[in-house]
Amino acid sequence: MSRLIVVSNRVPIPDEKGAAPAGGLAVALQSALAARGGLWLGWSGESRADDAIGPLKMLRDGNIDYALTDLTERDVEEYYQGFANRVLWPICHYRLDLAEYGRREMAGYFRVNRFFASRLLPLIADDDLIWVHDYHLIPLAAELRRQGVKNRIGFFLHIPWPAPDVFMAMPVHEEILSSLTAYDVLGFQTEHDRENFADCLARQGTGMRSGPGRFSVGDRTFTAKSYPIGIETEEFATLAQRAAETSLHKRMLQSLDGKGLIIGVDRLDYSKGITQRIDAFESFLKRNPDSQRNVTLLQITPKSRSEVPEYEAMQRAVAEQAGRVNGAVGTVDWVPIRYINRSLRRPALAGLYRMAKLALVTPLRDGMNLVAKEFVAAQNEIDPGVLLLSRFAGAAQELQEAVLVNPYDVEGTADAMARSLAMPVEERRDRWRAMMKTLRANDVFTWCDTFLHDLTTDQSERPTRW
Ligand code: UDP
Ligand code: G6P
Repeated sequence: MSRLIVVSNRVPIPDEKGAAPAGGLAVALQSALAARGGLWLGWSGESRADDAIGPLKMLRDGNIDYALTDLTERDVEEYYQGFANRVLWPICHYRLDLAEYGRREMAGYFRVNRFFASRLLPLIADDDLIWVHDYHLIPLAAELRRQGVKNRIGFFLHIPWPAPDVFMAMPVHEEILSSLTAYDVLGFQTEHDRENFADCLARQGTGMRSGPGRFSVGDRTFTAKSYPIGIETEEFATLAQRAAETSLHKRMLQSLDGKGLIIGVDRLDYSKGITQRIDAFESFLKRNPDSQRNVTLLQITPKSRSEVPEYEAMQRAVAEQAGRVNGAVGTVDWVPIRYINRSLRRPALAGLYRMAKLALVTPLRDGMNLVAKEFVAAQNEIDPGVLLLSRFAGAAQELQEAVLVNPYDVEGTADAMARSLAMPVEERRDRWRAMMKTLRANDVFTWCDTFLHDLTTDQSERPTRW
């Protein structure tokens, strides 16, 4: 079996307080790579002055070797906070209004991709498989090819791929799209994302279709398919069962004092629809006065990308909004929203999911949303909670038995909350069983094996015109 080299900007190295970074990419890849072993190259999370970038830091954990690189302060500002998180992230999440394009940031993005290629090159052996992840590193394969790398290289996009009109509003879209054609396999979260990508190729006149999911550009052919990412379904279910014995679980149950727990877990990100959700929760409380004092919303929202202005503004906005609702609707002995701004570890999260009657997963746009899948896996099959899920999360393509909502429709979402909390147990069990079946059939290991199978198999066919 070839060695696997994974490359991503973020790696799941715990911070100085022992907390692993919240985020689907790190969580899912760690599960997949721990099973197979391999080398993982990524950013150390540290920024340094230009002349203080040292050699790669090498660490070993289980059967994963980590190779971590520092970046310069300018790199972090231009590549990570700038082009990746102020251009690609908002555009892929349909927020053209928030995209702040600048040539300096764009040049920094391509420069840092060249730098990642130079750090990776000395580590590559002839039959290594290389798997690059997410929007930070789109041009990496093109850089490696320029330096003569012939290995099979795959790319998986964890976030949505937007419709052509949105994508083409980005000034360097031609270059971004063309650089993806240097990969052998391109993976998207949903069929919808893959179709959007194929539509972009067709609109730009880049390449030809050469069969289902196959494309050719010049003398290169590549596969573009959807590979919906999964979770460690069985392991997560076990984690949730065990959590019932912990002191946190007992303290939480005691503090709820019989009230029904509603849970939301999201990085503090404008794509997650947190403000619309709090509006919907307030509307639900006002329209269902009987529910007041009987439920509590626990919103766990670790800070994310705080140096990016849009995220910094959101920290204030959500905290103020939660405070306003608590002030307006709460009573001396009931706080409607418990708002937590820290990252929780997975065993604690698993236990809280299991205790909750309802999860609110209402992103305005999301590649997949692993929280939705984890919530389902954590439920108790006798008395499962209900998943209320945005139609605009990739997970909604698979989890059709969730209560699906349009998060922009605040009153509709409030009504769906009321329906979910009143749902008879038989219906809850039926929905849960169907979703669990899906999650068992496509867990994170299947996702990884399917992608790597395609990456190792040469699927050449003859090209045809668009
Ligand atoms: N997560 C965590 N601690 C937290 C909040 C989130 O470990 O306090 C994890 C969560 O369990 C999930 C991931 O972070 O596995 C979030 O992934 P998701 O796909 O839902 O969203 P993303 O953050 O990648 O946009
Ligand atoms: C999403 C992205 C990941 C990213 C994560 C956390 O899941 O798809 O690439 O790692 O958010 O964001 P951060 O900027 O902290 O890495």
